[in-house]
Amino acid sequence: MSDTWLLSEDRVWPERVPWKESLFSVANGHLGTRGTFEEGYGDSVPATFMHGLFVTPPGDLPYLAPLPDWTTVSITVDGIRLRLDDRLPAGYERVLDFRTGLLTRRVLWQAPGTGVIRAEFRRLLSMADTGLAALEVNVTSLTDDVQIGIETGLDGSISGPYGSPWSGVDWKRPAQDRLTMRAESDDGATVTASSVVLGLGPLGVIHHARHPRLTATIDLAPGEWLSLTKYTGYRKGSGPEPDLPDDRFDQVLARSAAEWARRWETSQIEVPGDPFAEHALRFAAFHVIGGAPGSAEGAGVGARLLSGYGYRHHVFWDADIFCVPYLTMTQPDLARAHLGYRHRGLAGARRKAAQYGRAGAFCAWESAGTGDEVTPDWGETPSGERIRIRTGEIEEHIVADVAWAADHYVRWTGDRAFLDDEGAEMILDGARYWQDRVEIGREGRAHLRHVIGPDEYHVDVDDNFFTNAMAAWHLGIAAEHGAGRNDLAERLGLPDGWEEEFLDLAGRLQPLPGPEDVFEQHDGYFTLDHIDLSRFEPRLAPLHYILGEKVLERSQITKQADVVMGLVLLENLHGRALIGANLDYYGPRTDHGSSLSLAMHSIAASLAGRPEQAYDYFRRAAAIDLEDSMGNSAHGVHAATQGGLLQAALVGFAGLHLGLDGPEIRARLPEHWEALGFSFVHGGTRHEWEARAGKPARGDKAPRADHDGGG
Ligand code: BGC
Repeated sequence: MSDTWLLSEDRVWPERVPWKESLFSVANGHLGTRGTFEEGYGDSVPATFMHGLFVTPPGDLPYLAPLPDWTTVSITVDGIRLRLDDRLPAGYERVLDFRTGLLTRRVLWQAPGTGVIRAEFRRLLSMADTGLAALEVNVTSLTDDVQIGIETGLDGSISGPYGSPWSGVDWKRPAQDRLTMRAESDDGATVTASSVVLGLGPLGVIHHARHPRLTATIDLAPGEWLSLTKYTGYRKGSGPEPDLPDDRFDQVLARSAAEWARRWETSQIEVPGDPFAEHALRFAAFHVIGGAPGSAEGAGVGARLLSGYGYRHHVFWDADIFCVPYLTMTQPDLARAHLGYRHRGLAGARRKAAQYGRAGAFCAWESAGTGDEVTPDWGETPSGERIRIRTGEIEEHIVADVAWAADHYVRWTGDRAFLDDEGAEMILDGARYWQDRVEIGREGRAHLRHVIGPDEYHVDVDDNFFTNAMAAWHLGIAAEHGAGRNDLAERLGLPDGWEEEFLDLAGRLQPLPGPEDVFEQHDGYFTLDHIDLSRFEPRLAPLHYILGEKVLERSQITKQADVVMGLVLLENLHGRALIGANLDYYGPRTDHGSSLSLAMHSIAASLAGRPEQAYDYFRRAAAIDLEDSMGNSAHGVHAATQGGLLQAALVGFAGLHLGLDGPEIRARLPEHWEALGFSFVHGGTRHEWEARAGKPARGDKAPRADHDGGG
């Protein structure tokens, strides 16, 4: 691996194109554009998304709409279209620079009977002006006289896996070099786009109703080139046209790169001795920072960030547990923006609770523009079998997950204003849901029956460890954050004596360890069939594709980290000693059939003092997107994997945590890592620390514990 700041490739693999489009996507906290080829390609999936711009087709669920496309540029050489699926290039290179967010592609190409040309594409979504997309195309004739034809515009006919969102498309050409478009969906979502094409001289126009294009024809002698710059601005709604710059591309790039540099200041990560890991972590930070909403705009962190259509861009716990804690430690304003989305979603969460006859706020398992539940009721297996999806009804741990993210944010940042204005309300109203939801058994213990835990292979179980442990924690923390907030308690309709009741329920719900310190994943789990997973190695697919739901249900095979994850998140409560015992028990029973699992296991192994095992999980987690090891990265980069990897580095290997007097580290580095350097923000101040295994750590502030023996 040469430069760990770059994602690069030097050839086109036709079958890898849609997957690579996700990896090469760029985003700026507001817009995200997949890394498609400007000239088009066979099964390419072009899309630019805008946070919060959901459309809902009649009788269907909301999805994030692809905006009228700005990226397409048709290039002809002596009348023949440059397409890499028609004719492979004679030379090819694509590079995404994480430092600046610049995506560059160079192609050497020759059509039958024409000279050789070089086309160079550079594009970015501006971090400085987040409604702005910029593209530069240079075409050079290398050998012969050629005539180059260019067409580029705004494509309102774009469609994706959920259809074509824009039923109403209106455009005009307010100036010779400019097109504007207003696109409206059937449910009234509206976007205004405006493009300017500079550098080509007089332009023609193609009057297509939904895909108007500006055109130019330019003769190039050998050694001559043309250079076009196209700026496209997007604005939600049908307000005035977005302003566009008339600067050179490099100036727009410089302004955007300066903002990226500011982001990297607090997300630095260095792993001397392991360029693979360093690259994977920079890739992760690039996608998580760019893909998280930069401001409050009716959007949370989507399960595939802004890099693909996967899960319709719905927001799951992937955001709260995997991405937000990393953002809290490095980019607190982005964590805050997501929590603002959760707070605004309370109205929907209350509606959901009411629908089930419950008090409080029952957060949606999947949400889109509002906090309302948008989980589909039905899904399809890869073999085409229709299956009922019950996560929206009974995967209830999401209620506590959101509270966990909010509490972690408050403790880490000390943002009391958030706690006062939004956090306490979210935490209390979620806890109110649990208080109403738990059942007290004859033996006096509290139960949560009929749930789905993180292990979605076992549906409708009683007393899932993760759910109970998180809900118990949530009830306890609500009593802490709610203490003295009588007005809020009254406004939320909490019953008299609620604090004592919450604490009492928390105690009764708290799971108890079973034999040899292993917690039972859910009631009856220990009696299920044990299946030796190693028998199925090597395998490329999750086991539910191979064995089917029924076999899984009767077995102990667990989809993803469940008990192990609860122990990691609630480490302060349970201590680290239990993590090792449960990792040993559940590790061999875990399928890692979800993108959330491996990175969480890596953190668990680190906390258990096993850096080599942690590294093995880390490496496999990094392969999920970088090697498409789950086979589904074409639908977008996995938010949870990327956020999880970043936490595996900071929380796992470096052991960064809050001690009584502030941040501390307990580094446990893999043998081949010389060190792990990173920056983070605590209480509004940036810190830069370096962890070294077995050696005192260096940083701007002496960490209190640099190394512990694990255990
Ligand atoms: C996982 C969930 C996750 C969802 C979205 C599912 O396969 O089991 O935990 O939230 O995918 O990534």
